[in-house]
Amino acid sequence: MALAPTAHFPTSLIRWYNQNKRALPWRDTTNPYFIWLSEVILQQTRVAQGLPYYYKFIHTYPTVQHLAAAQQDEVLRLWQGLGYYSRARNMHHTAQQVVAQHGGNFPNKYEKLLKLKGVGSYTAAAIATFAFGERVAVLDGNVFRVLARVFGITDDIAAPASRKVFQKLADELVPADEPDVYNQAIMEFGAIQCTPVMPDCLFCPFQRTCFAFNHGMVQELPVKSKAKAARPRYFHYLVFEWQGQYYLRKRLEGDIWQGLYDFYLYESTDKVVDQTLLLQELNGAGIPVQPAQIIPSAKTYKHILSHQKITAHFYLIKLKDKLHSNVEQEARLALYNPQKIDELPKPVLINNYLKDARILVHL
Ligand code: ADE
Repeated sequence: MALAPTAHFPTSLIRWYNQNKRALPWRDTTNPYFIWLSEVILQQTRVAQGLPYYYKFIHTYPTVQHLAAAQQDEVLRLWQGLGYYSRARNMHHTAQQVVAQHGGNFPNKYEKLLKLKGVGSYTAAAIATFAFGERVAVLDGNVFRVLARVFGITDDIAAPASRKVFQKLADELVPADEPDVYNQAIMEFGAIQCTPVMPDCLFCPFQRTCFAFNHGMVQELPVKSKAKAARPRYFHYLVFEWQGQYYLRKRLEGDIWQGLYDFYLYESTDKVVDQTLLLQELNGAGIPVQPAQIIPSAKTYKHILSHQKITAHFYLIKLKDKLHSNVEQEARLALYNPQKIDELPKPVLINNYLKDARILVHL
């Protein structure tokens, strides 16, 4: 049985796409800035969750010049909830690079796009093909899955070396005619037909030729080795309140959530900490606190990142006096009122606590 003849694949796929595609705003434009924004957001989340972010960004920053001129805090605040904040910081930097080095116009070739900071091969290919009609293959998780199943590629998609194998096939498949439509089509096919679990094989145009379907390997393909177990981390947040205001600090480089705001943090290697340890920590920081002043939150907060699993406890501490300015400086803490806190970019975990503690009653 000859499986998956590559010659018919693009035509059948585009036919499927024309009958099944969703109407999505970034498909009605060739504006490279809008396309770039949509692709950066969609690397982080699914279409349904990504759409409101896309609209927020294009309304707040209608051109790349607007984004380049924005404050980083504001960009991170708009990105809040999407996670992986270095993407937002890189995106902001890229906008500044496009303005400073390219007069506000995105380069119109794949190779040149690749030179922009934070623009990897996927994003460069997406902009090159969707905005400029270049014949380059986009290769994202959807495309890996479709190719692995239809053409029976068993290389581990989590292994960097496999990329070459997929890229070669993907490049061969992109038609010279309508490469942009084909690229949208293969991603759409992966997103709504050839889905990770329960793909719709019954009504699939490639049923007769699909390797995975014909070998009973739909569940086995793509092959993806498991990621290492996430590292557990235990955070103890000390939330200092003084006259309705709260002490927060901006996180530094070198750890997660760079540029976002959180509270005074004590991190422990053990799951639980004794209150005496917290008191010791605070004394050491020059913030003497009585045990009775510490009000632990009822809830434990959990947050899963790609390589870390955070468990956080919050302790509200009502201060009689403001912290000394040298203590503020040392701990990099500053007082904010709830309105201002709402405007700051924060990890979702912090935002959830603020809502539960009714510090942020949605403004
Ligand atoms: N996922 C990533 N890019 C996409 C796009 N352009 N359309 C739909 N889903 C996507």
